[in-house]
Amino acid sequence: MREILVTSALPYANGYIHLGHLVEYIQTDIWARAMKAQGHQVTYVCADDAHGTAIMLKAEDNGITPEEQIASVKASHEADFAKFLIEFDNYHSTHSAENKHYSELIYRRLNSAGHISTRDVEQLFDPEKQLFLADRFVKGECPECGSADQYGDNCEVCGTTYDATELKNPRSTLSDATPVLKVSKHYFFDLPEFEQFLQDWTRSDKRLQPSVANKLQEWFDAGLASWDISRDAPYFGFKIPDTPEGEPDKYFYVWLDAPVGYMASFQNLCDKRAGTDNALDFDRYWAAENEHKTEVYHFIGKDIVYFHALFWPAMLAGSEFRTPTGVFAHGFLMVNGEKMSKSRGTFIKAETYAEHLHPEYLRYYFASKLSDKVEDINLDLEDFMQKVNSDLVGKVVNIASRSAGFIVKKYDGMLTEVCAEPKLLEDITKTGDEIAAAYENREFSRAMRLIMQCADKANEYIDEKKPWALAKQEGTEQEVQDVCSVAINIFRQLMVYLAPVLPELTHNAKAFLNIDDLSFHSRNEWLLGHQINKFKPLMQRIEEKDVTAMIEASKASLGESKEEPAATDKEDNSAEQADYIGIEDFSKVEMKVAHVLECNYVEGADKLLQFTLDVGEDKPRNVFSGIRKFYEPEQLTGKKVICVTNLAPRKMKFGISEGMVLSTGNPKTQLTVVTLPDACVVGDLLA
Ligand code: MSP
Ligand code: ZN
Repeated sequence: MREILVTSALPYANGYIHLGHLVEYIQTDIWARAMKAQGHQVTYVCADDAHGTAIMLKAEDNGITPEEQIASVKASHEADFAKFLIEFDNYHSTHSAENKHYSELIYRRLNSAGHISTRDVEQLFDPEKQLFLADRFVKGECPECGSADQYGDNCEVCGTTYDATELKNPRSTLSDATPVLKVSKHYFFDLPEFEQFLQDWTRSDKRLQPSVANKLQEWFDAGLASWDISRDAPYFGFKIPDTPEGEPDKYFYVWLDAPVGYMASFQNLCDKRAGTDNALDFDRYWAAENEHKTEVYHFIGKDIVYFHALFWPAMLAGSEFRTPTGVFAHGFLMVNGEKMSKSRGTFIKAETYAEHLHPEYLRYYFASKLSDKVEDINLDLEDFMQKVNSDLVGKVVNIASRSAGFIVKKYDGMLTEVCAEPKLLEDITKTGDEIAAAYENREFSRAMRLIMQCADKANEYIDEKKPWALAKQEGTEQEVQDVCSVAINIFRQLMVYLAPVLPELTHNAKAFLNIDDLSFHSRNEWLLGHQINKFKPLMQRIEEKDVTAMIEASKASLGESKEEPAATDKEDNSAEQADYIGIEDFSKVEMKVAHVLECNYVEGADKLLQFTLDVGEDKPRNVFSGIRKFYEPEQLTGKKVICVTNLAPRKMKFGISEGMVLSTGNPKTQLTVVTLPDACVVGDLLA
């Protein structure tokens, strides 16, 4: 039995949980449940990230104290997580005694080992609000191009990055006052000293995904800088201990104590469980010398890799604690192929979703999309309905609903003593090993595919045997019971496989199957000579009207607010770097001016138009584009368009597509093909 501690990133205590967050909590929860079901001792902890300027200002806006603010948000976070069946072993707060203890301890150890230094920093200061301004709280004119209304870190117009102090005519976004320059002493953690350690750490033992390790290499190449870990009052956080007498108080920057929150939540759980059968020992999981006895995994989003794969392991290594066994990053959530948008109603609160749709639909959909990669995942609402309805309702639940009735009515609920199709059942029992491995490797989409293949086999078997037809014939009593017993057995295997994803549905299925165990191992004991109970419907189909109502409700609750995400404390530019592509990536895409020689409907394809494009080569190209809903072919014939010419050819049902025609808009509602002025020369590259 492995001893595993797993965490999700700690959500900020200044906002609600939305579907983007849920990608992470659902991913971690499925993993934790799957590992538990495989017999390991898994502890899953999390907490609210309660400190920082953003939370302090939010409380002020709401006219309450920061303590009141974080208490009410914590309660709402916990309620949301419970709705989505996220089963934390503990949910704590970074504003806690345990967190203060470990943050101070780590800091003191780093300090006495010589890893902390101080330096004066000149920063913009809001004379009205009496606080130092982080970059996102300053706006002014770009020092490079003069564009107005640019934030303190970079210009959205010309892309230049600069220091907030370089902005022309700066003003505070908090008070509109003109900031002044002010010097204060800051504390720094000496990250560069850990460079060699980090280089080794990030490359060993599959701790990180390959793409994350590569990203870190870029950061190493650019050179590590020491990390500013202090903030001046007023700040909501912990005071830095042991600062010289007579000097103003300094506070830990929120990102210093945030990851320590993982330890704090675990310590809090250790205290709660002390003296019980499932007591936990803090040191067994966190002391450096126990590094190989237990495993610690952090699930995070790609935007916070820098903090978890550089600062955090360096802090731990520098303070005699063990480092995580693995840090796993996931991508961001898109809805209908685009960033979540408040005005389109696709910025969906967890709470709003749960008012309209069953959380298990989303758990299954995310599982069917998640892999071990850092790729963004897309919630396409049409695909979501279709997939849940066809896989879960149409394939899985259907197996039980079409066979249980016969067993209960005709055989008093008794399954056969002997399995009539042992090969089929063995096959599905064996697939369980692959499914278990896929869960462990975070290849949930693969696990879901394997499970649905098993369901397909069961349905094919039932379709072939037709128990409903058999039941009408004479002398087929045994066969009907045989077939339905096989089907029920396969269904129970599927419940074992789906339990990490669908805890509620599978829990309800236990009552019907009259079993009390859904652990992975339990599937080896087939249900023979076993009595089941009456079947009750386990899941309803998703109705389109509920999805529409959810979108409308999201528009209503958030539509009026501005598009900008809530201010957070992810101040370091580096934190966001994982989102960018380099110019080398961009220049890989070859786009050329193309002349539409022909444009036609495609028989049998209601979404496609077929293009014959002159892109200045010997032969014209054939390209399909999913825009039939929006254009008549004549509208595009003769136009100049943009074609991506180095996209790998794609074999489609209707022929090979040798490129892509660029459009703007949303494939669901309206797409507009980008057309170019006649003066553009066919075959020219776009630059
Ligand atoms: N408080 C920090 C984490 C501190 S961990 C020591 C934070 N909070 S957050 O609320 O902004 O995000 C919490 C987690 O949710 C992060 O891992 C983040 O990447 C993830 N997500 C937030 N929005 C997301 C999407 N739209 N899509 C996918 N994941 C997203 O960061
Ligand atoms: Zn500029």
